[in-house]
Amino acid sequence: MRKPIIAGNWKMNKTNAETKTMITELLPLVANADCEVVLCTPFTALATAVEAAKGSNVKIGAENVHFAKSGAYTGEISAEMLVELGVEYVIIGHSERRQYFAETDTTVNQRTIAALEAGLKTMVCCGETLAEREAGNTEKVNERQILGAFEGFTADMFANVVVAYEPVWAIGTGVTATDEEANATVGYIRSVVAKRFGNDVADRLRIQYGGSMNPKNVKGLMAKPEIDGGLIGGASLNAEDFSKVVNFNA
Ligand code: PGA
Repeated sequence: MRKPIIAGNWKMNKTNAETKTMITELLPLVANADCEVVLCTPFTALATAVEAAKGSNVKIGAENVHFAKSGAYTGEISAEMLVELGVEYVIIGHSERRQYFAETDTTVNQRTIAALEAGLKTMVCCGETLAEREAGNTEKVNERQILGAFEGFTADMFANVVVAYEPVWAIGTGVTATDEEANATVGYIRSVVAKRFGNDVADRLRIQYGGSMNPKNVKGLMAKPEIDGGLIGGASLNAEDFSKVVNFNA
């Protein structure tokens, strides 16, 4: 059985003061969650978030990481720096990073390897744009992104890997993939992993859905057999909404 994982992605939102307030409000609301709960915050809020969530069932994640261990990379943050802060997870290859910050399948692969080597758990994102979907390329695009992200991987490297399938057309738009569409593509992604890395890896790999997931649609999506969790943007910014997503089966 794959343990469901619900993760918030705050993107470029919340100061340290707001971080402390929201986590303090959130903790009692999700204390009995039946799933793994993660909150990914901006780099500047990580130390505050780790401190605020200490001793609770909420784990803290970053939203990106550089692939080099150290060096002349002005403005970047290494995996070791995140580990030192007490960060457990990191999102890699989010579509906004692909769209605005030149993220490629190759850099997703490099970041994932660096994060895993440092002891972080990774949420590796994939997903097609609207144009790609309309052109009938949904499977092809997700296959390319997945095989690119895990290029050179062996089965044992998947222990700390979660995949997030986020159709770009559903992110921040209020348009969600239907339960069936999301389940079908997540199932396809699992079949790609099975073919390349074996059934064992695929059966154990948790694959989240992301894209306008909210308190209203979470139950239907999570009821689908292939969907093991969610990566939540907008609905993770408010303690009440996020707790409702986390407690989807309450
Ligand atoms: P959304 O974002 O829930 O606001 O659509 C999801 C994401 O980008 O991870």
